[in-house]
Formats: sequence, structure tokens, C-alpha cells
Amino acid sequence: MELLLEIRALSLSFGGLRAVSNFSLKVEPGKIYGVIGPNGAGKTTLFNLVTGLYQPDSGEIIFRGINLVGKKPYEISRLGIARTFQNLRLFNDLTVIENIQVGLLHQIRGLWRGILNIGITNNVDERIITLLDLFELGSRADEKAGNLPYGMQRKLEIARALATQPKLLLLDEPAAGMNPHEVLNLVRLIRDIKDRFGLTILLIEHQMRLVEELCDYITVMHFGEIIARGTPVEVQGDPVVIKAYLGEEEVG
Ligand SMILES: Nc1ncnc2c1ncn2[C@@H]1O[C@H](COP(=O)(O)OP(=O)(O)OP(=O)(O)O)[C@@H](O)[C@H]1O
Ligand SMILES: [Mg+2]
Repeated sequence: MELLLEIRALSLSFGGLRAVSNFSLKVEPGKIYGVIGPNGAGKTTLFNLVTGLYQPDSGEIIFRGINLVGKKPYEISRLGIARTFQNLRLFNDLTVIENIQVGLLHQIRGLWRGILNIGITNNVDERIITLLDLFELGSRADEKAGNLPYGMQRKLEIARALATQPKLLLLDEPAAGMNPHEVLNLVRLIRDIKDRFGLTILLIEHQMRLVEELCDYITVMHFGEIIARGTPVEVQGDPVVIKAYLGEEEVG
């Protein structure tokens, strides 16, 4: 099968610290790939590289035949990659709908111009209505994002990412801070949007339950390196993985 994304020997150091070291991954369309590992393993840095926030020291990121290295975040967004952030980046004083619109306008015009133009875009397109329904945010569409409960803010971030009509969606700890009921709901929602929008998903998550339920394939990082990969069952029983997590607990 043709790959949607191929990451080849990707590395980035901050000073002497190798945050991502020789990372490779082949991503087939329509699947969900988990990226797990202890705190500081390099997971978010990997996402920052794929989305153009950081440039690698070496390596390639080939998305639908195009090397993303050297491209700007908005160019990568236009090519069909969207993400959410580990620490939410919503505009708290904008409404739910406006936050989704920013996602769209950002792609067209650049972020700040997008925000400045929000007032003149009164037409809410069909896709946004669909997203609001799907994410059960319809009844709160005109509320300020900052007033939503935390679990809903997390969902709004995903809805905003989807507004750009990505092929590849990167979710950085989407279940962080959610209660068990919300996590269950999120699992269903992620499956649903994957099928409905024909998405491929990379998912960083610490909640193993969610990873096991959703992921076809998992890559385990530790100190910037890949220490294991395979199906959830394969990875879970891997002594190297268990040691990496136990080591963290001893230290932490
Ligand atoms: N902009 C930066 N400048 C310097 N160091 C950085 C920068 N971004 C990340 N790092 C360092 O790179 C390493 C990897 O960080 P990263 O945020 O990718 O880890 P992570 O796996 O996402 O961890 P967590 O599970 O805690 O979110 C850490 O040691 C971190 O301190
Ligand atoms: Mg992180």
C-alpha cells in the first residue's frame, strides 16, 4: 500500500540534548498510530517537526510524496496536516464557532489576519455545523471557549483542527485531564471522525486504555530514541518498554 507519510532518520537536538534521534516511521493511510513514552521522550517535539514548528537537524518527512522539511506551518497545513496541542491553544475570549473559523482562516490568510477578519465572516459554512453537531458543541456555539468545561475545550481543539480538512491528524494527549466517561466518549468520537473524514491519525497519549483501544500500531520513544514498536499487545509485554516506564517512576 502507498504510504501517506514516511519519516526517515529524523533528528533534532536542543544544545546537547537529542530530543529526537534517528526517528523513522512508515504511515499507511486509514490507520491510527500511537506514539508513547515517558515524559520528555521527544513525542511533542516529533509533532512539532512534522508540523513545521521546528526544523530538523537531519532527516526527511515525506507526506504524499512531498518533503516537508523547510516548509512553514501554514504550508504544511494546506498540504493536509492538522494537529491539536498538549496545552490547549484556544482563544478563550472568542466563541466556539469563532475558534473553529480561526482554524480555517489561519490556513487561508495566516493566523493574525485570520483573527482580525473574524467579524466579517458571518457565513458559517456547512462543515462547521457538521463539526459542531458531531462534537456535541452545537448548543454552546456562541459561548466563549474559555467558559466551556475542560473536556469540551479539548474536543473543540479537535473540531478546529478538522475544519481545515486534513488527511493526517496529529493529536497530542487529547484525553489529558478528561474523566473516564469523557475518555470513553473520546474513543468513540476519534473512531467516528476517522471513518467519516477518511483520516489517518498519529496519537500521543499517556492513557494506555485509550492507546490500546484505538491504535493499530505503536511506537515507543525514550530519550529521543525508538525503543520498541509493534501492535499494542506486542509493545505492552516488551520488557524494554516496562523498564523505561518503571525507571521513570523510580526517578519521579
Ligand atoms: N524548544 C525547546 N528548547 C529546548 N528543549 C526542548 C524544547 N522542546 C523540548 N525540549 C526538550 O526536549 C525533550 C523532549 O521534549 P518533548 O516535549 O518532546 O517530550 P514529550 O515526550 O512530549 O514529553 P511529555 O510526555 O512530558 O509531554 C525534553 O527534554 C524537553 O525538555
Ligand atoms: Mg509532550
